[in-house]
Amino acid sequence: MEVRIRPARSIRGEVRVPGDKSISHRALLLGALARGESVLQDLSPGADVQSTARCLRALGVSLAIEFSQGNGPEGPTARVQGVGLSGLSPPASPLDAGNSGTTLRLLAGVLAGQPFESVLTGDASLRRRPMGRVIEPLTQMGACIESEGGRGRAPLRIRGGRLRGIRYKLPVPSAQVKSCLLLAGLFADGETTVIEPVPTRDHTERLLRGQGAPLGRSGPEITLRPCSALEPLAMRVPGDLSSAAFWIAAATLVPGSELAIRGVGLNPTRTGFLAALQRMGACISVGGVREEAGEPVGDLLVRGAERMQAVEIGGEEVPTLVDEVPLLAVVATQAEGTTVVRDAEELRVKETDRLRAVAENLRRMGVFVEELPDGLVIPGPQPLRGACLPGYGDHRIVMAFAVAGLIARGETTIEGAEWVDISYPGFFEVLSQIVELR
Ligand code: S3P
Repeated sequence: MEVRIRPARSIRGEVRVPGDKSISHRALLLGALARGESVLQDLSPGADVQSTARCLRALGVSLAIEFSQGNGPEGPTARVQGVGLSGLSPPASPLDAGNSGTTLRLLAGVLAGQPFESVLTGDASLRRRPMGRVIEPLTQMGACIESEGGRGRAPLRIRGGRLRGIRYKLPVPSAQVKSCLLLAGLFADGETTVIEPVPTRDHTERLLRGQGAPLGRSGPEITLRPCSALEPLAMRVPGDLSSAAFWIAAATLVPGSELAIRGVGLNPTRTGFLAALQRMGACISVGGVREEAGEPVGDLLVRGAERMQAVEIGGEEVPTLVDEVPLLAVVATQAEGTTVVRDAEELRVKETDRLRAVAENLRRMGVFVEELPDGLVIPGPQPLRGACLPGYGDHRIVMAFAVAGLIARGETTIEGAEWVDISYPGFFEVLSQIVELR
């Protein structure tokens, strides 16, 4: 499906964004492993989270997701009947994680601890992504995992069983790998310690602690001691800052905009994009900060920026904005000076090679951009020219370039617009409600 984006005069109004995708996956998985019913309000409605739900049902978990009626801002509510730590059943066929790396990697940790064999697979994009990063430590814990796709690629055939706790230093900063190992640790004898030299999103740790798991953190070391049961969850999932980011960028870039975004998750391991935009000169105020479900949540007010300056991104900041780099690159085209993103080689193994996709699409819009092995160099300001762009089968590329289209001269066409459903169904409907066209 193609979508046409025309230049915007302003972005105005008030929006709520879907429930956080990372938290939704984890809440479903941990709710399924708890004892009793979990109720999760404002779950992410995206296809990725539906993939996690589908896999859990195939493992014998009874799980109902009710979508709200009408046009209300509420997201779906999930009711998960937890089966406890030893209640999953063998699946009848391969488990399909679709496009979702989080589903596949987190579930691999759970399946490694089960007394049955299972196969985890996904779509063509997911079957190209590296899984050696979970195969290797899970094998150290005692699981037997075969890469049927070859060279550490899915499908993965997992023969699980009782595991042993290990001490493992993450070779790549990845919350998915960290979470995979903590989930496996629930089925391990002895302690499981994950050492993360660079902090990554800590939603798994927050949820596990809230469920009564004996989990502690000391500097970069996270340790889970053996536990016999998890408490069920009753929570409202915070709005997804990675989805809000598109509206934050749009309102910042289009002069005269004023947009309120309510109930957004502000976990400090996720707020790098806000911090980077504020350094660049964006006008973003954060208010009403409160805690919900063990996570900080707040309301944002974004106004069109007068002048933006270039920014340098690298090192420990990268995991805090890893999913927002494509969008940051779009913003950087409008900033004075040269924006440099480094240490972001992980972007090459996301849903698509996002460094390449961003560089190619910016060039199609007439922008000069240099692609580095681990980042991008973007001199600015440069005008954007409307163009016909591929979406690379990647939800975040489609949405980042929809924002680019708002500030381009002429019309922009994006192919594969339906990919937004992965994390943000209704993205284009919301856009049409808050945009005033030129
Ligand atoms: C995620 C972690 C990140 C992120 C992904 C979601 C998670 O991936 O890019 O969109 O929910 O844990 P990595 O852990 O592979 O960096």
